[in-house]
Amino acid sequence: MSSGPANVSRETGSRVPGMLDSSSFDAETFGNTPFGHISPSETPIAAEAQRASQILHPGKVTVPKPREQRIITIANQKGGVGKTTTTVNLAAALAHQGMTVLVVDLDPQGNASTALGVAHHSGVPSSYELLIGEVKVKDAIQVSPHSERLLCVPATIDLAGAEIELVSMVAREGRLKTAIQDAATAGFDIDYVLIDCPPSLGLLTVNALVAAKEVLIPIQCEYYALEGVGQLLRNIGLVQAHLNPELHVSTVLLTMYDGRTKLADQVAEEVRNHFGDVVLKAMIPRSVKVSEAPGYGMTVLDYDPGSRGAMSYMDAGRELASRAQVTQDAS
Ligand SMILES: Nc1ncnc2c1ncn2[C@@H]1O[C@H](COP(=O)(O)OP(=O)(O)OP(=O)(O)O)[C@@H](O)[C@H]1O
Ligand SMILES: [Mg+2]
Repeated sequence: MSSGPANVSRETGSRVPGMLDSSSFDAETFGNTPFGHISPSETPIAAEAQRASQILHPGKVTVPKPREQRIITIANQKGGVGKTTTTVNLAAALAHQGMTVLVVDLDPQGNASTALGVAHHSGVPSSYELLIGEVKVKDAIQVSPHSERLLCVPATIDLAGAEIELVSMVAREGRLKTAIQDAATAGFDIDYVLIDCPPSLGLLTVNALVAAKEVLIPIQCEYYALEGVGQLLRNIGLVQAHLNPELHVSTVLLTMYDGRTKLADQVAEEVRNHFGDVVLKAMIPRSVKVSEAPGYGMTVLDYDPGSRGAMSYMDAGRELASRAQVTQDAS
């Protein structure tokens, strides 16, 4: 993890409430208190205490480990809705909570690689070489300097040509799926694979949809939020019908929520009416800290662990992990 005063919020400049004395908020101690029967999601103070404990003890397993590896594609062809921000911060949140997470950067912009602090200049083994079959996944995986449980296959500018190069290749839609299957045999015990897509519905996104079982759609709480989502859902339907029957939209996450505006609430309500239970209760607030973090090669969890943005991604990670448990237990 990054050095520095992890328990001091850069947003407020003050110490994060409840973080002065780590022992008082250790998750185990917390569970043994007279309030142990109260779920952290039931009271704001309980939730705050649990998050503080997780940030003070990064890596402690505090969410259920999925029974089998979960591969989740983060897609929305609308640009700038928070795909990359969600991919890297959710990955960091899951890693903080004890999971091993691989981020596959499938956007030639390489923003996810930047935020995770991994090298992604031309020549570095990347998702491009993986797709064209020039390297094995074990040779393309880098460990983020912020956590040994946070892994990344970076994207370099070479990926910009991949959409065209892939057209003439054999099994062009399934190349990423085949390539990342090797990770398990290469000795990486990965709990979650998160794939960051570019803002298009081309072959890169199709490869991501074929490689995953789940799709997470980030939706920005702004005008035209649902614009283009219909097209995305139709494409997911096509991939499901022809290439990957297990694919489904498991999660929708509302991003850049600004509680001061009526519009944000209206959009949130519309999205919840449209998608129902797959929408996470946690919403990501619009926050300067979230947008500043990548400039330092960091996720917001490392940049300002006490900020609202970091807390909300921790909440989203926990919700995502516990929901899987429910679905997997039911099946
Ligand atoms: N919660 C947030 N609060 C403030 N700014 C945010 C938040 N989430 C994302 N941003 C900013 O919004 C911009 C777009 O976010 P991001 O790059 O994650 O979107 P994207 O969907 O991946 O974009 P693209 O389609 O170009 O890949 C970035 O500058 C990012 O820092
Ligand atoms: Mg992006």
